[in-house]
This record gives sequence, structure tokens and C-alpha cells, in this order.
Amino acid sequence: MIEFKNVTKKFGNHVVINNINLQINGGEWLSLIGPSGAGKTTLIHSLIGASRLTDGEIFVDGYNITKFNAMALQEYRRKIGIVFQDYKLLPKKTAYENIAFAMEVCGYTDAQIEKRVPEVLEMVELTTAKHHFPYMLSGGEKQRVAIARALIHEPRLIIADEPTGNLDPETANEIVNIFEKLNINGVTIIFATHNKHLVNRLHKRVVEIRDGQVFRDENEGAY
Ligand SMILES: Nc1ncnc2c1ncn2[C@@H]1O[C@H](COP(=O)(O)OP(=O)(O)OP(=O)(O)O)[C@@H](O)[C@H]1O
Ligand SMILES: [Mg+2]
Repeated sequence: MIEFKNVTKKFGNHVVINNINLQINGGEWLSLIGPSGAGKTTLIHSLIGASRLTDGEIFVDGYNITKFNAMALQEYRRKIGIVFQDYKLLPKKTAYENIAFAMEVCGYTDAQIEKRVPEVLEMVELTTAKHHFPYMLSGGEKQRVAIARALIHEPRLIIADEPTGNLDPETANEIVNIFEKLNINGVTIIFATHNKHLVNRLHKRVVEIRDGQVFRDENEGAY
């Protein structure tokens, strides 16, 4: 379970997150919506420990992550699957190598890498293009690689910040299908998006952020 307790984030005098309280249960799907600049990405950054809070605390499975030191934070981040709009692939490595490299830096053995990479590629249904470099991949294929990379450690939580922002409607739908399958298998999904159509077809919990506050929190919500 994730719990935001009186979370405030300021940049200088600019209050970007204003005393947010929010609970997300294990296995839940939460679509995070709100106008540009509302604070969605800032909230996500605070949950992955990428920026220090001005005030408040965030508990994940009982641990106060705002108190984590650098090592605990690194270990915690490895348990989360993080997916961004811009894929963040290494341009000089193939799809396969991008995933393998992420495992190498975490200290996995060659045998573990050779076993796991095909598994995660299979999960995102990307097997034919695995030896292609990013410039040879479509946006949808690049995002599949990024998701496969996020699945290496079998995360119980996936945080996706506008993962379909650069994709056409059909491809966006396919990417969300991948997250839906993971969610059915119990993975918690936090999905920040501007895509009204996707949010409305999901019939899942919708949290709308406006001016750094929870403006609306609805189960089976719409955009
Ligand atoms: N590092 C930073 N320094 C100063 N201000 C920042 C910083 N990061 C974000 N902000 C400000 O915080 C506010 C919220 O930004 P944030 O990126 O969280 O919005 P968002 O809801 O994700 O918007 P979008 O839908 O466009 O992605 C914006 O006004 C932004 O300018
Ligand atoms: Mg954002």
C-alpha cells in the first residue's frame, strides 16, 4: 500500500504539491489526470524518491521512503517499474541490449540475463525486433522495450508517466493493454495521462490533480 501523508512540494516559493493525502492499495489501478502543470509528474517524482519533499511523508508497504538513505532508495527504486513518455533507451544498444544492460548494472549474471531478457520481451510481445536499434523501432516498439526493461525485477508497482503521449491511438491502446494484463496479475499501476479516451474505457479509479491538490478521486471514474 502507498500512502501520501500531507505531502507538500515547493520549488522556491511556488507550491506545486499542496498538502496531498492519498492512499493507493496493492493491486489497484489509478489513472492520474489533470491539466498540464497540475503537479502529476512532481507527485510521481516524489513517489520514486527523485525529489525531496518540502513537507509530509510517503509510506510504501509500511516504509517511510522519505527517510531512506541513498542505498535504501536505490533498492526501493529497483522494485518499481518506471515508464516515461520518452522511452529513455540507449541509442547505441539494441532492444535486447538495452534490457540486458539494465540487468548488468544491477549485478545479474550472464545466465540470469539470458533467461530473463527473452521472458520480458515475450511479455510485451516484442520478439522479432529484439536486435533492432532504437532508431529502427516504431514509437510503440520503443515503449514496449521500455516496459520490458521495467519488468526485469518483477515489480509489484508500475508508475507510468504519460507512456502513450507520443503514440497514435491504436498503439496507445496496445500499450495500455500490456499494463492491464499486468494489473490483472496483481501489479499496482499508476498511469498519468492526458488521454481521455483511454481513461474512459478503463472504468478504473481516477484521481484528478489541480493546482497541486486532489480535485477529484473517483472509483470507476471518467476523464
Ligand atoms: N525542477 C523544477 N523546478 C521548478 N519548477 C518545477 C520543477 N519541476 C516542476 N516544476 C513546476 O511544477 C509545476 C508542476 O509540474 P509537473 O511537471 O508536475 O506538472 P504535470 O501535471 O506533470 O504537467 P504535464 O501534464 O504537462 O506533464 C509546473 O508549474 C512546473 O513548472
Ligand atoms: Mg507531467
